[in-house]
Amino acid sequence: MKITVVGAGNVGATCANVLAHNEVANEVVLLDIKEGVAEGKALDMWETSPINMYDSRITGVTNDYHATKDSEVVVITSGIPRKPGMSRDDLIATNAGIVKSVTEQVITQSPDAKIIVVSNPLDVMTYQAYLTANKDSREVMGMAGILDTARYRSFLAMELNISPKDIQAVLMGGHGDTMVPLPRYTTVGGIPVTELIDSDKLEAIVQRTKTGGGEIVKLLGTSAWYAPGAAAAQMAEAIVKDQKRVFPVCSWLQGEYDMKDIYLGVPVVLGKNGIEKIIELDLNNDEKALLSDSAKAVKDVMATLDGMDI
Ligand code: NAI
Ligand code: 2OP
Repeated sequence: MKITVVGAGNVGATCANVLAHNEVANEVVLLDIKEGVAEGKALDMWETSPINMYDSRITGVTNDYHATKDSEVVVITSGIPRKPGMSRDDLIATNAGIVKSVTEQVITQSPDAKIIVVSNPLDVMTYQAYLTANKDSREVMGMAGILDTARYRSFLAMELNISPKDIQAVLMGGHGDTMVPLPRYTTVGGIPVTELIDSDKLEAIVQRTKTGGGEIVKLLGTSAWYAPGAAAAQMAEAIVKDQKRVFPVCSWLQGEYDMKDIYLGVPVVLGKNGIEKIIELDLNNDEKALLSDSAKAVKDVMATLDGMDI
């Protein structure tokens, strides 16, 4: 069983490494447009197999889509990342062209693949892949919620000095500064988080989560890759192992949460058919208003994309 990762940059290479290291698929194909980059990184990863004790085969190719044939999952990370001072939306024109061309080629070789988009601006690049792939929307999704929730959970773990393993949370909305962490749906070992932390500290963590991507861009001069790569690999694993995991995933909404024709992060069940169910939470009015603001921000960028000749 094969998983392809398109884009052998920071996020794609990390994702492929996690997939191989954890033996999520017996074959991992890493593809990039830059001559030799995917081959070199894949070879370096394969040379860790005797050390890390795995036998998933990992192959790198330069723009050779034949090697991706019959992939069960394709993760699209190709595109330019943010630099300091740039928002995710500044990437739209360049990355939409890349995502479109990659999706066309992926679909030719693997018409049944589930597609996980990572390229930014995430919600709108997922929309671009959906428009291009001409597939059931349950099979075209975006990765952001697992990453954003992981940031939220990791910040809470630091503040509370407890294991991040015991923090469960859900976060909704677009992958931008309007994302909606949901303290009311956050628990620590089953205990509502609000019983363990005062509201000011919790609010500060919510705010830090919303700008968590920018925090790393400021430190590194480019965007994050360890957590994003691991998050995309976790989605691929849920699909190929039919795990029915519950994750926030950027999904095409058709009436859920009273929203239509928009890609937005919502909790879903992820299994072999892709998004098998969208879970509708009983949000209160404040939460609904935040989600609606986030949806508006995504719709604006979708409209920009619709107005472009990609
Ligand atoms: P990077 O620059 O390290 O890697 C991107 C790779 O894509 C490069 O190796 C480049 O050669 C390749 N590429 C460009 N055009 C291509 C094409 N037509 N076909 C195949 N490969 C192509 O960038 P990085 O850090 O890996 O980020 C990748 C994307 O993921 C960016 O758009 C970034 O903003 C986004 N991102 C999204 C996150 C999320 O939560 N959804 C989190 C982190 C990054
Ligand atoms: C991140 O959240 C920039 O989307 C990227 O790290």
